[in-house]
Amino acid sequence: MGKPIILDSVAALRAWREAMRKAGHRVGLVPTMGALHAGHLSLVTGVKTRVDKAVVSIFVNPTQFAPTEDFSKYPRTFESDIKLLSEVGAEAVFAPQVAEMYPDGFATTVSLEGPAKVGLEDAFRPTHFAGVATVVAKLLLQALPDVAIFGEKDFQQLAVIRRMALDLDIPVAILGGATVREADGLAMSSRNVYLTPEERAAAPIIHRTLLEAAALARKRQPLDRIEIEAANALSAAGLAVDYLAIRDAASLAIPVVGADPRTLRILVAAKLGKTRLIDNIAVG
Ligand code: PAF
Repeated sequence: MGKPIILDSVAALRAWREAMRKAGHRVGLVPTMGALHAGHLSLVTGVKTRVDKAVVSIFVNPTQFAPTEDFSKYPRTFESDIKLLSEVGAEAVFAPQVAEMYPDGFATTVSLEGPAKVGLEDAFRPTHFAGVATVVAKLLLQALPDVAIFGEKDFQQLAVIRRMALDLDIPVAILGGATVREADGLAMSSRNVYLTPEERAAAPIIHRTLLEAAALARKRQPLDRIEIEAANALSAAGLAVDYLAIRDAASLAIPVVGADPRTLRILVAAKLGKTRLIDNIAVG
């Protein structure tokens, strides 16, 4: 397949989008921060089943990183990203510089409640979702896609974005793409490259623990006990658990007693050495 056209300004993106509209093409947006892996590529192939043309944004968004986080060392692999996107047939890549997205005087941030304030990622990364929602709102308004797709690995992020698009009447269908895993169950993530060989060997315990917890939840074992035992299993394997929580999949609220297991999602964040990994699984 051909190389995607590279668009580095909002004006170029808008001109491309308008040309697609005039040609009668439906457009899908796949927002990414680059360092692409099979999970991202599955989002491109997924969106392409719904639209005629796919545009992938590659932008390491500074506003979603806290000062203590890995913005400067976040992997940047632009050339190989473009090669991979050629292979899956993405038609366009939007790759703006920071000054294009946040020009001098930029002063607006999306303010969030609901799924952004449920005591999961937000409890550990209090400024993260405002940065995500602001950049995603900008990307949606810049690209005006018919459809945009986000990985389910960032399950709370997906819920926040769905809520924001609904609340701000942004005319786009938001899709979730299933998490892609390594053969041993580790969820694919651009941050997996930070893991040492020993940490990489230990990391699949996260998915195994989620599977075991889901099986117990399907058997209607008490959810608080499952949460504690699963977190203990991860701690015993050397992980520092930020949270392991069973939540209502739609609202991310704490489930009501006796909730149907099929409505539940188990979410986890844990540090392995210096690397923070997140994952989640449906119970039912
Ligand atoms: O999930 C990500 O890679 C980012 O949070 C996103 C949605 C591209 C916004 O920067």
